[in-house]
Amino acid sequence: MTLVTDVDVSMQPDESFIALELLPVVEQAAIESAKLMGCGDRHAADQAATEAMRKAMDHADIDGTIVIGEGERDEAPMLYIGEKVGHAHSPQKVDIAVDPLEGTNLCATGANNAIAVMAVSEPGGLLHAPDIYMDKLVVGPSAVGKVDLDAPIADTVKIVAECLDRDVNETVVTVLDRPRHEKIIAELRKVGARIKLIGDGDLSAAITAAVRGTNVHMVAGTGGAPEGVITAAAMKCLGGEILARLAPKDDAQRKRCESMGVDPDRLLKTIDLAPGEHIVFIATGVTLGDLLEGVRFFGNGARVSSLVMTYASQVIRFMDSIHLTERSEGLPIRRD
Ligand code: FBP
Repeated sequence: MTLVTDVDVSMQPDESFIALELLPVVEQAAIESAKLMGCGDRHAADQAATEAMRKAMDHADIDGTIVIGEGERDEAPMLYIGEKVGHAHSPQKVDIAVDPLEGTNLCATGANNAIAVMAVSEPGGLLHAPDIYMDKLVVGPSAVGKVDLDAPIADTVKIVAECLDRDVNETVVTVLDRPRHEKIIAELRKVGARIKLIGDGDLSAAITAAVRGTNVHMVAGTGGAPEGVITAAAMKCLGGEILARLAPKDDAQRKRCESMGVDPDRLLKTIDLAPGEHIVFIATGVTLGDLLEGVRFFGNGARVSSLVMTYASQVIRFMDSIHLTERSEGLPIRRD
């Protein structure tokens, strides 16, 4: 008997396999960039992460296409948009969004919350967003469907506080510390919200907004669009929400959005940014963070902590790995 179905299951990526296959790729990017923590050179730290991630990809049994990466082919030597990674014969056909070092300045100055990060989906499961700014609002599961990107920020924080059954002055909003956010910050201060101003890294901030116990309840403001797409992959797995809109600064950027098939005026929800049904999200801490430890070196290896999430199977894993550079007699088990 022949069973006929609409969906060819053999063509769907195996999330658990991909997660384990690509975890070392993200971990290697974290380890190599962490070696340059505090070096003062954000480009060097980013390059170390990118090279490590690209090299490690060669060992992964996936047939991947970079859809969000280090830039266009002519401006990035590796992990450029459209680059093929892995092995063409692999049955695991996937689109990949990478940010080998999210928070290049954070790593270069040894500040908290630099991460190496990747989101993966079946082909077409992640929006191909241009590398321009994006207006974003990120909330955790309790406020999904209840907030509006275009509403006054004071109203939004009141709604988020209500959803979390707390007062506004007990609600923390993370905002990138930029002059463009002066108005948002002033309005939040007026209404009495607590504000966490961050130097960089709205992607790792967004993850904390969707996890209880981090003392971050929402993220608002304008940041990178690629980070917005990767945030959406994380929100799908965590049950949170990102509401966003591309923010082209001129006609050229507007045309670029249109040429990539994205309407720059359209409100984009999590499902628009990451429509995939087989999403894998992997982040590894580079420097110490709110959710993840940073890379810890111990002479003959490194210990790393990662967040690994698979959407369809609804599994969220906190993974702790030790990468040895040579055979070791004893493994470090304590935090230092
Ligand atoms: P990098 O890792 O590329 O340095 O980006 C860090 C970051 O802070 C992002 O988290 C954020 O989305 C974006 O930069 C904000 O851009 P800008 O620094 O131009 O305000």
